[in-house]
Amino acid sequence: MRMYDIIEKKRDGKELTEEEITFFIDGYTKGEIPDYQVSALMMAIYFQDMTEKERATLTTAMVESGDQIDLSAIAGIKVDKHSTGGVGDTTTLILAPLVASLGVPVAKMSGRGLGHTGGTIDKLESVPGFHVEITNDEFIDLVNKNKVAVIGQSGNLTPADKKLYSLRDVTATVNSIPLIASSIMSKKIAAGADAIVLDVKTGAGAFMKKFDDAKELAKAMVSIGNHVGRKTMAVISDMSQPLGNAIGNSLEVKEAIDTLQGKGPRDLTELCLTLGSQMAVVGNKANSLEEAKARLEENLHNGKAFEQFKLFLASQGGDTSVADDPSLLPKASVQVSLPAKQSGTVASIIADQIGTAAMMLGAGRATKESKIDLSVGIVLHKKIGDKVEKDEPLLTIHANNDDLDTVMNKLYESIQITEEVVKAPSLIYDVIT
Ligand code: URA
Ligand code: CA
Repeated sequence: MRMYDIIEKKRDGKELTEEEITFFIDGYTKGEIPDYQVSALMMAIYFQDMTEKERATLTTAMVESGDQIDLSAIAGIKVDKHSTGGVGDTTTLILAPLVASLGVPVAKMSGRGLGHTGGTIDKLESVPGFHVEITNDEFIDLVNKNKVAVIGQSGNLTPADKKLYSLRDVTATVNSIPLIASSIMSKKIAAGADAIVLDVKTGAGAFMKKFDDAKELAKAMVSIGNHVGRKTMAVISDMSQPLGNAIGNSLEVKEAIDTLQGKGPRDLTELCLTLGSQMAVVGNKANSLEEAKARLEENLHNGKAFEQFKLFLASQGGDTSVADDPSLLPKASVQVSLPAKQSGTVASIIADQIGTAAMMLGAGRATKESKIDLSVGIVLHKKIGDKVEKDEPLLTIHANNDDLDTVMNKLYESIQITEEVVKAPSLIYDVIT
């Protein structure tokens, strides 16, 4: 088999066979096929697209390019969730104990964050004592016993995706639905998920700015999942403004604690219930999305989700008194509010710019080596569609220094107030099952 013929075939819009796809992924992973040939193939795929069968085959070949996490020692259907990335997205911290409270096993492999705030592990580390340095055996035992555990990333997962993603990044081929969908799905499957729930974000703060693109990506990923025998569902949700009110690590942990007790922001609660219902259904713990949602909502109010969260913290060394008293979380030394410059209605809160402001405060990493400050961040008091009076606080900045002029200017630039009537955006645009 020759790489030249594979490139030519795709260039002419024909369907590649399983042998051809596996040949190119294996050869590229091993360093036997050069970047220039793979670049040409990526560009051919960009223009000619791939069939559903090709996409599933490509995903499987990438999964098989490296290690696969074996979670078979955990009883039940292991459900994983993936978000295409948002600002102030605290859902994992809430969803993990919430769906575990219905008996869905959550074996979460998580990373540290790069960009506006930390990742799930960084956030959880604001709880004193909490750690993810556990062995694989301890991890599996914890999930069997408590239905939920989090471990740091390990192993050589999907090396083919790592190489392809870097190559696409410099050859203008990132933005291709079959390539994005197979990249995301291969990582979830290699991490051991039997079933997958996807939160595809759309709006100013999202990777997919336009709804139609987000929907196409969601459908592509659901189709791949179902083709390779992993039940998959997706939600398309709004990221025109940050989710919930808190952006920053310990601030988001506090928000998660509130939400797990039924006292969280409306949008964050709603999204968690929607994603959680899908997780319960694909995990075979509920017969319908409606039934799942009702039972999850009950567990937010009867204390079961909150108890599950405390059990989860304690099982990985975390101090659970923080859950009962979030004022024990790392706290910034300065709290400054940002007063509205005019009266009116909030028209936009540009999510990625708010994220950048949080990063400037130290909540996120500019590079992989940066150290993050768990205590700092932003708490919004107004969201799109809310009325505001002149001088009323739009948000509170939690910082560890007094020189906040640059951050405040950045925040003023990201929030528009208008005299016109503005409707709050919908949160859930579509559900793909
Ligand atoms: N995120 C991924 O993991 N892969 C892509 O190709 C694009 C975004
Ligand atoms: Ca939030």
